[in-house]
Amino acid sequence: MEIVSSQAALRNMLARWKQGDSVSVGFVPTMGALHDGHLALVRAAQTENSRVVVSIFVNPTQFNNPHDFASYPRTSDADCAVLEALGTDAVYFPVADELYPNGMQAAHYNLAGLDTRMEGAARPGHFQGVATVVDALFEHVEPDRAYFGAKDFQQVAVIRQLVALRGGLPQVVACATVREADGLAMSSRNLLLTPAQRAAAPRIYAGLRQAAAALRTGATPAAARLQFEKHVHQSPELEVEYLDLAHPLTLELLPDHQVLSAESSAHYFAVVRAGNVRLIDNFPVE
Ligand code: PAF
Repeated sequence: MEIVSSQAALRNMLARWKQGDSVSVGFVPTMGALHDGHLALVRAAQTENSRVVVSIFVNPTQFNNPHDFASYPRTSDADCAVLEALGTDAVYFPVADELYPNGMQAAHYNLAGLDTRMEGAARPGHFQGVATVVDALFEHVEPDRAYFGAKDFQQVAVIRQLVALRGGLPQVVACATVREADGLAMSSRNLLLTPAQRAAAPRIYAGLRQAAAALRTGATPAAARLQFEKHVHQSPELEVEYLDLAHPLTLELLPDHQVLSAESSAHYFAVVRAGNVRLIDNFPVE
């Protein structure tokens, strides 16, 4: 496995690879602290591409809380070890000045309103920061396909819009959320949970499933939200920050007091706080 940490070294490596016939590059951008969800992305990339690059960069412009940025887990030695064991071709540790040659600030993209609701409302500027770094990473890595986890469903929608602005490349591949055996969505932030918070956290997924079932049996979104909050708040460790019901493509919020029709498409988006840790999850209403 090659480990590259300058744009020049990355370019040399890619040029070397591309001397071969029909080389395709799959790319998995990450902020490190890798878990099985990331490894599933790497495996998917390996099946569809001849080479796979994983980047590790904790991106300051997508954090609107300095404490969250400072406490984000950083485990690069362990990350490299698992990536090597998996047969990853290369890990890219970008240099901040090369990703942000004009200074550490987010650019502004027309994200078609996908960036303003839910996580966008809770973390103003977050998705502009994500789009800025992902755009720069795409410029550096020039991948054919890029892989993202559906756990960050809204992020995937934002990246698809970014790719549309870039003219359609790379192809975006969204991979299913990987969950612990008890249903908790895998996340680097799970490392920050106390044992009591970790024990309570599966209530989020269970609550989402219950709320989706309630909607499909005629509850209004408002009533289903109350049911979700009641289930989650049975644990004193957890505090619901939001549970929003939105259209899965436009991400437009659906009315609170209107029962869903059988044909309507809807998707749940939730953030639940465990102390300072924000746990994010989503679930389709099918
Ligand atoms: O999902 C993440 O880990 C990050 O938001 C990403 C896509 C690597 C951009 O920093």
